[in-house]
Amino acid sequence: FSLQSLNTFGIDATARAYLHVTEKEHLLGVYADGAWVSLPKLVLGGGSNVLLTGDFDGLVLHIGLQGKERVGDNAQHHLVRAAAGENWHAFVQWTLAQGLGGLENLSLIPGTVGAAPIQNIGAYGLEIKDVCHSVTVFDPHSGVTRALDAAACRFGYRDSVFKHEGRDLIILDVTFALPKRWTPNLRYAELAAEPGMADAPTPQQVADAVIAIRRRKLPDPAVIGNAGSFFKNPVVSGAQCAALLARFPTLVHHVQPDGSEKLAAGWLIDQCGWKGRNLGAAGVYPKQALVLVNNGGATGADVVALAKAIQADVQARYGVLLEPEPVFV
Ligand code: EPU
Repeated sequence: FSLQSLNTFGIDATARAYLHVTEKEHLLGVYADGAWVSLPKLVLGGGSNVLLTGDFDGLVLHIGLQGKERVGDNAQHHLVRAAAGENWHAFVQWTLAQGLGGLENLSLIPGTVGAAPIQNIGAYGLEIKDVCHSVTVFDPHSGVTRALDAAACRFGYRDSVFKHEGRDLIILDVTFALPKRWTPNLRYAELAAEPGMADAPTPQQVADAVIAIRRRKLPDPAVIGNAGSFFKNPVVSGAQCAALLARFPTLVHHVQPDGSEKLAAGWLIDQCGWKGRNLGAAGVYPKQALVLVNNGGATGADVVALAKAIQADVQARYGVLLEPEPVFV
């Protein structure tokens, strides 16, 4: 079964078997059947955060669960639930059309609702952890469905329990808590500088500004294969950052609540001269050095070779190891 149209990098790899999961019962069926249970599983949503490094000798569970609804209120929030297979951006637009602000900073992120908590998607000053009420999961080991509250999800920067002990859990739906008293989140300087943002914008206007920034800087995966940021922004100690600043005064860095410093991986890669460069059929996007792209016909191995070359250069010059963001399969 070809996976080329199921990963936004557009890598041409195959899987032994494929199931489009449109009902929870499909999962119960798979995990109750001896022949299926023993096969390795790959759960795919929008395929926008995976790098397929070869063929997958197992069963792909393509999550197509649909549905979105308001599920009530608490004192400060409106609660909204969406099934895992819903397209993320379409869901954000739907909340805005309901008059509910709170997700607009995460507009136009590729992928599905169910994938969003796994890497705690974040952009323009907002992360899933800030708006997540709870996540419903199916545990294939016990066959039990249960809800994890936000604390149990153990969200961190591009990280959650679903990348660690919870990696086998299958996310069925996500409930969001959206503020009853909405105010625009313009902490990200580049967003605050967009036209109209100084003038009491509506949630939809903030969404439109985010969309405009993303369209300027990030490649549309429907046109150029990519998986968004290919590396996480590295976090270093305050001392290491100070030492780097002494040698590289224009280093882009942001102090974290615990005193550590988050560096801009895009800046590091850019400074090493990689922006716009290609290695085989894989390349570095000319407008944002943090995004690796498939210029046509790239294999997973081409992308890995490019990533390794970039990591080696950044390590040699700055002594910082860049960690990939997508999941390697
Ligand atoms: N920069 C460069 N050259 C580049 C790219 C960036 O010098 O080629 C500098 C910029 O000038 C800026 C800094 O690096 O000073 C940060 O750049 P940007 O604001 O574009 O954000 P980012 O740190 O590169 C992160 C997220 C994005 C998210 C944006 C906006 C990660 C790994 N990436 O990128 O998330 O959209 O912030 O919040 O944290 C994704 O995860 O796939 C993703 C796109």
